[in-house]
Amino acid sequence: MSELIFEQNETVGILRLNRPERRNALNRTILEAITEKVRALADDRSVRVLVITGSGGQAFCAGADLKERRGMSPQEVEAFIPLIRDTMTAVANFPRPSIAAIDGVALGGGLELALGCDLRVAGRGATLGLPEVSLAIIPGAGGTQRLPRLIGLGHARDLILSGRRIDVDEALSMGLINRIAPAGGALETALEWAQQIARNGPLALEAAKDALDHGLHLSLADGLDHELACYNRIIPTEDRLEALEAFAQKRSPQFQGK
Ligand code: COA
Repeated sequence: MSELIFEQNETVGILRLNRPERRNALNRTILEAITEKVRALADDRSVRVLVITGSGGQAFCAGADLKERRGMSPQEVEAFIPLIRDTMTAVANFPRPSIAAIDGVALGGGLELALGCDLRVAGRGATLGLPEVSLAIIPGAGGTQRLPRLIGLGHARDLILSGRRIDVDEALSMGLINRIAPAGGALETALEWAQQIARNGPLALEAAKDALDHGLHLSLADGLDHELACYNRIIPTEDRLEALEAFAQKRSPQFQGK
């Protein structure tokens, strides 16, 4: 069985890390597989929403594969960190919405993978954290950069400097996750959420993600210009006209992504 499994449920893609005996830890093989698959899916508009999850129920992902790491020379570690960083960047650059469905642990690179997604849902009993400093390293796959942008510097400092592991209630209160699912139910909740999102205009989803992702770190004036540019891209679309027509006819719109 492959260490990375992809399934497509209508317009929702599901990418599943499948190393349950290693708590879905990220070795070189799975990182390369994720990067390759996510880059390929970026060009496949039949996947309107991407859900990332883990196999086995005990872990979304336990982070970098520490057994593989133990066998690496310092030079190999130095070459490896950009690989794990680039994987999370590939996930973050997926041009349509993505959801991390977290049951069990999301630690270190596992949480950084979830941070590369747009949205996060975690099942009761899940544990999240960036324990790298307890291993005498630092988060190197975007954790020190994406976490404060998501939850603010104060909470990010707390989690990164203490390395402590938090439960879903605390994660929700910090804004680290968007939703709590019943225990073991993260994927089911993520799929319902994904289907709801996927009913919206596909090109509008891309434009909204672009506006959100690339506007925030600009000045307000430049961000508003960026929003306008994103809006202008969807004005000529058939889907926009279809939405107006459907509203007038009191029916659900049929979006084609055109
Ligand atoms: N890399 C490699 N193997 C890992 C791993 C990791 N990050 N996390 C867990 N595993 C392996 C364990 O070594 C164990 O293998 P073994 O059966 O050969 O001993 C197996 O997965 C099961 O782990 P175990 O600790 O027995 O299961 P658990 O459910 O009690 O605990 C964790 C799971 C994830 C909480 C615990 O293993 C852990 O804390 N792992 C380290 C997480 C971490 O620090 N990640 C950050 C890396 S930067």
